[in-house]
Amino acid sequence: MDHFHYRDGELWCEGVPLARIAAEVGTPVYVYSANAFRDHARAFRAGLADVRDAHLAYAIKANPNVAVLRLLAAEGYGADVVSGGELARALAAGMPAESVVFSGVGKTEAELVRGLDAGIGQFNLELEEEGEALARLAAERGETARAVLRVNPDVDAGTHAKISTGRKENKFGVPIDQAPAMFARLAGLPGLALEGVAIHIGSQLFDLAPLEAAYRRVGELVATLRAAGHRITRVDLGGGLGVRYKEGDAPRSPAEYGAMVDRVTRAWDVTLMFEPGRVIAANAGVLLTRVIWVKPGVVNPYVIVDAAMNDLARPALYDAWHDFDPVVPSGERVTANIAGPVCETGDTFAMAREIDRVAKGDLAVFRSAGAYGATMASTYNSRALVPEVLVDGERFAVVADRIAAETILAAERVPEWL
Ligand code: LLP
Repeated sequence: MDHFHYRDGELWCEGVPLARIAAEVGTPVYVYSANAFRDHARAFRAGLADVRDAHLAYAIKANPNVAVLRLLAAEGYGADVVSGGELARALAAGMPAESVVFSGVGKTEAELVRGLDAGIGQFNLELEEEGEALARLAAERGETARAVLRVNPDVDAGTHAKISTGRKENKFGVPIDQAPAMFARLAGLPGLALEGVAIHIGSQLFDLAPLEAAYRRVGELVATLRAAGHRITRVDLGGGLGVRYKEGDAPRSPAEYGAMVDRVTRAWDVTLMFEPGRVIAANAGVLLTRVIWVKPGVVNPYVIVDAAMNDLARPALYDAWHDFDPVVPSGERVTANIAGPVCETGDTFAMAREIDRVAKGDLAVFRSAGAYGATMASTYNSRALVPEVLVDGERFAVVADRIAAETILAAERVPEWL
């Protein structure tokens, strides 16, 4: 069921009309459906029902709001974190440290220590030197850190270049052909329990073939490592499953993904970790916005909305498509450009898009904005930091305040010599 639906001629999120949220909280504002998050979390888990010993570590970067994390913790999800800040959020939300995976190509030693302090379940090593550092830091404390080595399988994930991570020229992982030698050197270090390998080849993948190819390479690596005498007990298969953003998008379902995983990994005899992000969060949220002006254009009119590239960066960064739907449909179709108020041509959400006619003051939403939305917001052009609302049935709550431009200004100082 779509938890954003039209009822009595206007758009609702679950049991709350979006117009009510706009009236009470103002716009722009992200609105999340708690039950969409739950449904997606359950569907992903159900897709892996046949996979033995699967552990779910939600990729916090997709939507790190602490209320969202609390909700997913209640669904039995752990977390994939990539910074000390994300680690703090996972713990604050009540996710057990044991269920936290620490990824990231540039973890500082201070962050490794924070992971050790918390007692997290798994460090994903990105380079040999990081493994040596982690081993030393853990050994100094008389501890052993559990880790896996992230490998780069050199496959083309077939997604946008900026969210592709598994080509050999990308910064992520160690070259898979160098992994056995590196593994041998690291596995002997006191303080480190190197128990397996990790992989993540990219995001918003529609095709399972590149994932399957990468997983098969990992399967071969596991066999090679075992033949060399290593005890391999866990493999982290990353995230990356794509979602529908526009009509005609045909992502593979969690069930199809799970069937592929089951087929490829059945004989591996390991604990499998998964790091889904977008598939859980994207279609659980919208960005609610108000039309400021409709400006006549030379080719098409410009619908200028009060959300901008600083609130939702994906169109400007990746030419991403987000459906634009009115809160109260007019039923009249027009072709228009949709842009925000920021002083950059790139602050354009859509060009020559066929949309429902909207007028000054109307409310509308950008769909599929629950993942990589609010979390990538900035205050560019000295705009406020966009707030977030969580709807759960007929209740809703502001789960992140709007941080006013004045509050941000108040954190700046002019030195006394000026
Ligand atoms: N694991 C690792 C190591 C990752 O780097 C990522 C995403 C994930 C898991 C989760 O991937 P997902 O299931 O969400 O595809 N800002 C971009 C997406 C960046 C993804 C970065 N890594 C966007 O808005 O499309």
